Parts: sequence; C-alpha cells; structure tokens
Amino acid sequence: MPLQEIETNLEYWEKAILGASTFQELERLKADIIGKSGVVTSAFKLLKGASADQKKEFGEKLNRVKSRIDNALAKQRQKLEDYAVSEKLKNEALDITLPVENDHFGGLHIITQSLRRIRDYYSSRGFLVLDGPEIETEFYNFDALNIPKHHPARQSHDTFYLKGHDGMLLRTQTSCVQIRAMQKYGVPLRMVSIGKTYRNDQLDATHSPMFHQIEGLVVDTKPITIGHLKSELRKFLEFFFETDSASLRFRPSFFPFTEPGMEFDCRYTKKDGKLIISSDGDKWIELGGAGMVHPNVFKSCGIEEEVYGFAFGLGLERIIMLKYGITDIRNLYDTDQRWLRYYGTCA
Ligand code: DAH
Repeated sequence: MPLQEIETNLEYWEKAILGASTFQELERLKADIIGKSGVVTSAFKLLKGASADQKKEFGEKLNRVKSRIDNALAKQRQKLEDYAVSEKLKNEALDITLPVENDHFGGLHIITQSLRRIRDYYSSRGFLVLDGPEIETEFYNFDALNIPKHHPARQSHDTFYLKGHDGMLLRTQTSCVQIRAMQKYGVPLRMVSIGKTYRNDQLDATHSPMFHQIEGLVVDTKPITIGHLKSELRKFLEFFFETDSASLRFRPSFFPFTEPGMEFDCRYTKKDGKLIISSDGDKWIELGGAGMVHPNVFKSCGIEEEVYGFAFGLGLERIIMLKYGITDIRNLYDTDQRWLRYYGTCA
C-alpha cells in the first residue's frame, strides 16, 4: 500500500481500533496493520530499497503512523480490561440487603467457652479471677517462684526471651500470677487465673508453643492442708467433666514453688473416644500439678506472718481434649467451623 493511502487510512484504522469490542477483534486489527505481514510493516519493508532522503521522509511518516496505531491499541486494550474487571465485580457483587438464608451466626470457640465456664465456676465459689501479663520478667516467672538463675527447672522450660529486653520473657506458666496476686492482695487469698503461656516447643499433635493454663492459689493464716487441696480439685473436676463422682490420687513430684509437690491423677473410663471421669473408672490419667506453697514463695512476696497455702496448675487444652475426645491439639487452633461444629463445640 502506498504511503499516501496509509496516511489516509490512519483515521479509519484508529476508529476501528477504538471501536473494537473484544480482545480478539483488537488482536486481528493489530495483526492486519502492524503485525508481521501487516500493511504498515510491509510499507517499512519497501523502504529498504529507497534513497536516503526518501528513507528519512517516509520513515518518519511511517513511524508516526505506527506510534498512533500503538497508542490506539494500548488505549483500547486498557478500556477492554477495565470493562472486564467491572463486569466481574458486578457479577460477584453481594447484595447485603438480602435476608440471611440460615440462622448460623458463628459462635464462641471451645477454648473461650471453657475458659468462661471455669472463670464463672470459680468466681461463684468466692475466688478472685485474675489476669496477669503474658510478657513477664524473670523475677515473676522464675525467681519469685523459687527457681533461681541456674536451677535446672529453668532449662526444662524452653523459654522465649525478648531480644533487646534483658530479663523479659513470654511467661512459661501462669504460676507468676500467684506472686502478683499475693503482692497485691496479701493474705487471706483465694484466686484463679486462666491465660496463655508460651514455650519453645515444636507444634505437633500434643504440643503447641502457645497453650492455656489454669492456676489456683488459696492462702490463709488458718491452717490449710493437702485435704483442702484434694477436695478443691475434686470439686473442680466434677464440675468441668460434668460428673458427680471424681476420684483423685496424688503422686509425689517436684515443683520448686511447692513443698511437698505432687501431680494429681483421676480415675476414668473411655466411651466413644471421650474420657468419662468417674470413681468407677479402672484407669488413672494425669491431669496437672499441685502442692503446698513453698515458704520461699511467701518470702519473695514479702509475707512475714505464719501462713498456709496450696496451689495447683493444669493445662486447659489438655482437659478440653480429654473431655471432647479431641486427639490433635492443632485442631483447636485451626478454627475450622465445620470441625468445631462436628465436635459440638460451636453454635
Ligand atoms: N506451673 C507448673 C507447670 O507449668 C504447674 C503447677 C504445678 C502449678 C504445681 C502449680 C503447682 O501452682 O502448685 O508445669
């Protein structure tokens, strides 16, 4: 096609391009005009044999034509893309004024439900329900609990220390709330605290770097015995596992902040994978740690008078898993509503 014709066609082509309504149409026009054997490309080829002057004159003109075609193509491509996006959005639009089709509005997670139930239980029995900071100092997490610097018990807690903040850590146990509570409220005191604790454990079916603990403490100037501790734990387990007879045993164990220290087990049987706590049970399952408060702990709280006390601690996830027959702790944190509903643990 001679150059003149190309120039007269330019406006016509531009119009055709800007009127293209599909990407295919646009591609076809591009191929016809500036594609490998398009008219403009062919005209460029003809220039090869032309004189230097002609090359300059026609070359410039052809380049102008080509850049106008390029511009028109880019403009229309953008327009088609914008249109495609807006159509997609239109199709995906939700009409939030439509009535809801089912009555499922979500629910409280099983951990939240259990935590609230336990808090309510203890507060109805006259315990103070307290919270403590999750970022703690070495003093509250270890020293005040009779775990000095080089005590092996420190190594057994794989602690997350805070970089650049000497002596600060993510608490490895809720026992530190015992110290804060005694410092603040003195004696007599009945308190529980339920909250998150952290240990540098690999996440697997039974371990999580974050888990919840329930901590209890009873201190008085009147004598308190292991008998009181046992009855307190029994009542709690009967409440939590919804049974009228829990049977408890203590085994000697070591916790630096107790003397004597012990672990407690409960009789159980299994039904459909779930743990049934009952004094008829023929097996024992370990549920937590407990003991009489060590005199050094009272000392580090500044309590000088003669006092007596017991403390206990247990894992919230552990008792939830046992009660509901959940075998993998990770399921608790996945918060998949279908899974939670399957376990009857969400509305
Ligand atoms: N803090 C202990 C732990 O994380 C559990 C514990 C044991 C708490 C004995 C207590 C206690 O209050 O008396 O393993």
